[in-house]
Amino acid sequence: MRSSPALALALALALAGCAGSIAPYDPAGEPARRAALEADLRAKLGEAWDQPVPGLAEADLELGREVWYKNCDACHGAHGQGDGPRADRMQPRPSNLLAGRTLSQAGEVQLLRDGSPGTGMPGFGGKLPDRHILAVYRYVGWLRVNPPPPPDP
Ligand code: HEC
Repeated sequence: MRSSPALALALALALAGCAGSIAPYDPAGEPARRAALEADLRAKLGEAWDQPVPGLAEADLELGREVWYKNCDACHGAHGQGDGPRADRMQPRPSNLLAGRTLSQAGEVQLLRDGSPGTGMPGFGGKLPDRHILAVYRYVGWLRVNPPPPPDP
């Protein structure tokens, strides 16, 4: 089959257009993006940023585990190490939640509600009742203090 020059030109223009509108992922931009994310969350939370999260201590851990396996493990992996089946197709990758926290607890809960713009992290605010968001965040806390045993040597 012969390809039409007009079609080839249209295709080239379309591709050029796409390349111009979608900012390519640049790891060098990550620190600035994360700083902007934190600034946004701090602005939303004000003084609540470093206060205990209301309702978190009483949140339902069992419910949290269910919510985790329905909504989170595909990206973050069963143990929260950022290695779920969907992780390799994502830039930036899903956070390794066991690698240490850079946001406050209140900041992370707000991120769960709102998502992280420009990344795969969805906002669950409209999808899950707040009780479920607090429960799954309590489960994340549980994962952090119960890391998986190391593999056999
Ligand atoms: C579609 C993939 C995806 C799903 C589903 C997902 N996440 Fe994420 N998550 C991400 C990505 C990507 C980031 C990194 C966001 C960033 O760096 O701005 C992230 C970041 C986070 C963070 C912030 C940690 C940090 O400082 O980087 C927390 C906490 C978190 N996710 C918890 C959850 C929980 C709990 C669920 C389920 C309710 C969930 N995620 C579902 C992809 C996902």
